[in-house]
Amino acid sequence: MSHSTVLPPKPSSEAVEVRKLAVSRGGHQVLDDLNFGIPAGRITGLLGPSGSGKTTLMRAIVGVQKINAGSVQVLGRPAGHPSLRHHIGYVTQAPSVYPDLSVEANVRYFGAMHRKNRNDTLEAIAAVGLEKQSRQKTADLSGGQLSRVSLACALVAKPHLLVLDEPTVGLDPVLRAELWERFRKMADAGTTLLVSSHVMEEASHCASLLLLREGRLLAQLTPAELSRRGSSQDLERAFLNLILKPSLAAGLTGAGSGAETSEVRP
Ligand SMILES: Nc1ncnc2c1ncn2[C@@H]1O[C@H](COP(=O)(O)OP(=O)(O)O)[C@@H](O)[C@H]1O
Ligand SMILES: [Mg+2]
Repeated sequence: MSHSTVLPPKPSSEAVEVRKLAVSRGGHQVLDDLNFGIPAGRITGLLGPSGSGKTTLMRAIVGVQKINAGSVQVLGRPAGHPSLRHHIGYVTQAPSVYPDLSVEANVRYFGAMHRKNRNDTLEAIAAVGLEKQSRQKTADLSGGQLSRVSLACALVAKPHLLVLDEPTVGLDPVLRAELWERFRKMADAGTTLLVSSHVMEEASHCASLLLLREGRLLAQLTPAELSRRGSSQDLERAFLNLILKPSLAAGLTGAGSGAETSEVRP
């Protein structure tokens, strides 16, 4: 995949750096003292229960969320910097497309905003497996197809950083597997992906995981580390074990067992 020219992330560097980030919404603290980096050219999974702050964190990274403290650097610039506009793709949880337009017209429209041509449009549609539906009005598509149109509208810009908020919700298992395969190919081609999910089993597709709980970062680790520290091959179980024993998440005690109480907050 060829990227547009400005701001290429250095292969070994971090695409996103978050320091001491705090965000309040509706008068209460939603994100609290977050510190982490997102490696470039990899898939990072943002995992946590509903309400844990995943969407708010993604909004902060794409620069549409007012923050109370700390900093968010994206591709070496402050989040929301105008120069980042063509380099970040963001797909929200609710698919936002024009229902009266065909799949192709929708993708072409978003492509035009980034000065992309018809070839780029067709490539993005193929990347989400909607070639056969490209002339169909999006109003006539299924929910899963709609969210893939939304994804194509982000892909057409060929962003360096792709932020996807629960992109696999409502998709059948086959499509879900296909989509993860496409994400992997994009990462192999150099795109940085941040993908949220509240389904722990999806963690296995990611190179790196950010585990969020109640607005705090419980851990940043690989799926293999999650499995090991949480003492389970089942990543859902392992995550629950980390919640029950936050010291395991921090890696402070090694594979301790038994004696700690069920302190829920990390
Ligand atoms: N616009 C808003 N106003 C007030 N509180 C909000 C708003 N949006 C989200 N919240 C609260 O922020 C917390 C995190 O929400 P969100 O980031 O959407 O979590 P997630 O995406 O993990 O489900 C929740 O407690 C939610 O109720
Ligand atoms: Mg959300």
